[in-house]
Amino acid sequence: MSSERRIPTGIAGLDRVIEGGVRDNTTLLVVGSSGTGKSTFAMQYLNYGLEHGENGLYISMEEPPEQIMREAKMLGFNLDEYYGKELFFFHSKGRDFVKLVDEQLPALVEANKNYAVKTRVIIDPLTPLIWAVQDKQEQREIITKLFYTLKQLGPVLITTEEHSTPGETVGEDVLIPIYMSDGAVHLTYRPIGGAFNRALEIIKMRATRHGEEVYPYIFVRGVGVVVRTTPLVSAEDVRKYDDIFDKAIRTAADLGANEKMLDRLVYVKENWSYPFSPKETLQIFFESQGLNDALTKEDLVRRKEATLSSEVPLDVSDISGVTMNVDNIELDDVSSSDDEGLIEIDNLSELEEFVQ
Ligand SMILES: Nc1ncnc2c1ncn2[C@@H]1O[C@H](COP(=O)(O)OP(=O)(O)OP(=O)(O)O)[C@@H](O)[C@H]1O
Ligand SMILES: [Mg+2]
Repeated sequence: MSSERRIPTGIAGLDRVIEGGVRDNTTLLVVGSSGTGKSTFAMQYLNYGLEHGENGLYISMEEPPEQIMREAKMLGFNLDEYYGKELFFFHSKGRDFVKLVDEQLPALVEANKNYAVKTRVIIDPLTPLIWAVQDKQEQREIITKLFYTLKQLGPVLITTEEHSTPGETVGEDVLIPIYMSDGAVHLTYRPIGGAFNRALEIIKMRATRHGEEVYPYIFVRGVGVVVRTTPLVSAEDVRKYDDIFDKAIRTAADLGANEKMLDRLVYVKENWSYPFSPKETLQIFFESQGLNDALTKEDLVRRKEATLSSEVPLDVSDISGVTMNVDNIELDDVSSSDDEGLIEIDNLSELEEFVQ
């Protein structure tokens, strides 16, 4: 897992499939058609921050603050106590989005830049701006600037309404904001009956290993959205494959892998978070690095001869290399068919005799 501090979104069930939350100073886009729950999502995110000592900045491109607060209350979020103290609104009246993005928001950010308290920023929805700026190039520039400006305050959550046509995975109108955003989740509503009526998918989450399933979600009054996820890897499973990695690292050393590669394998070991064995992945990786067939009997003979004929005394790393060789080539360790040995080497008994 990444060591960078994560900021919980407060969306029940989501954080555990995005390594604990979003990264600071990034944008998260919530895409969904009308009525999928974007505003509930945004309110829940904002409310979590307020309840945990953060500030909130709500940028509204259509409704006035009073109406937003009223609707929040109907969703079960009472924001009154924060209003004007920790929660601020910026109501962009009118349609001059160029002025908003070029002048007003940078001025606002500049004024708040050195403020110690973290600020969660919400735009719900971004749709009026997208519709007002039809030219794709111009849209791209204005969204780039908007995201760049707001990210300076803290983690930003933006919702966008999509209008997809049958067969499209996501609507064409939201491709630019998705592309410009650090993370994006997709909410869909298909009234087919049953548990999967509403589902969330993570489209992307930069620098994060995220869950890749289609997760059903429900609305729970008083909580908001509850996404029905299972944790990516349970705490007790995290170290389950250490033995396989250790063996792979020894094998790599025997096969002549350099320090960088060995360090990389240790890093992979520390960060493996899949619920399945890394054996196949490691085999593919070894092959890509030309390591799978590097060690033949001839190689070993050559290596040993080179060591013996060398006039320079063995240095410590050579010695530890030899020790690893002897350690590793144990017949039943590598060749038994049901164990997790990584590299199949022919004629193991010959090799073993030779090494000894
Ligand atoms: N407690 C609840 N139980 C069942 N459904 C609920 C509940 N609360 C909200 N909803 C559903 O959530 C929908 C609206 O949620 P929300 O306003 O968050 O969606 P939205 O994506 O922001 O919609 P819009 O595009 O209109 O802004 C409603 O249509 C309703 O079906
Ligand atoms: Mg809404």
